[in-house]
Amino acid sequence: MAAGCVSRMIIRMVRRTAPAIGLNKMAITIKSEKEIALMRESCRLLAIVHKELGEAIRPGMSTWEIDQMGDQLIRKLGGVPNFKNYNGYPASICVSVNDEVVHGIPSKKRILQEGDIVSLDAGLIYKGYHSDAARTHGVGKVSPAAEKLMKVTEESFFVGIKMAKAGNHLFDISNAIDAYVRPFRYGIVRDLVGHGIGTKLHEDPQIPNFRQLRRGPLLRPGMTLAIEPMINMGRADVEWLDDDWTVVTQDGSWSAHYENTVLITNGEPEILTLYD
Ligand code: MF3
Ligand code: CO
Repeated sequence: MAAGCVSRMIIRMVRRTAPAIGLNKMAITIKSEKEIALMRESCRLLAIVHKELGEAIRPGMSTWEIDQMGDQLIRKLGGVPNFKNYNGYPASICVSVNDEVVHGIPSKKRILQEGDIVSLDAGLIYKGYHSDAARTHGVGKVSPAAEKLMKVTEESFFVGIKMAKAGNHLFDISNAIDAYVRPFRYGIVRDLVGHGIGTKLHEDPQIPNFRQLRRGPLLRPGMTLAIEPMINMGRADVEWLDDDWTVVTQDGSWSAHYENTVLITNGEPEILTLYD
């Protein structure tokens, strides 16, 4: 399907419906060298945004301030925030605190406290090409359990992309992430998945972070993918708040998110949104 079907699906990094994966025709775009150069630049700028935002996080700050800072920085760098007004999303940076999984809406009233964990999801468009990446940060000193959740989530991404090479199949990535996370007995979010990215924020294919029975489409050089494990300390189940955006864990457990835009090559994948 892609980011396209029904209202809700469009917005959530492509929300999964049961029969969708693999059964429908997919159109996974292969980027030309010229397009890849633009993707690289879009992603390089986004990496700067994440670095700056990460360094700015501190207790007492509102999530609105983070959005302001991110929005201004994206524009200063020559990009356009791609989340802003995306299906009505009201901000440029998704800021999700503690039990919020993704798509939290920045607010002047939401003040970060020491010990919180905060997921920042950001993206931009540069010369028509989208980038998308997320990081989860501790606010001041956080509990060992929260540290571990953030670490395992980030590690799961890196384990996953070891499989992200031409000749492998897409769900080799999904299965690797699942196999890595499972022993920690965390909940791997299933209602939201990663996605292709390029001239649109959400392109085919959908990229689940949990085990698949099929291997999925063949990976080819020139594919650009946003791979984004969302991992809960408790159960996998999530729900949507009444603002119709904020995704929270059903059991109130804390959640971490880590995402990069990645280029499939003939060799190792290129992680385009890493800061040097
Ligand atoms: N990385 C998020 C995603 O892939 C970005 C959401 S943009 C929003 O869904 F505008 F929908 F929040
Ligand atoms: Co994404």
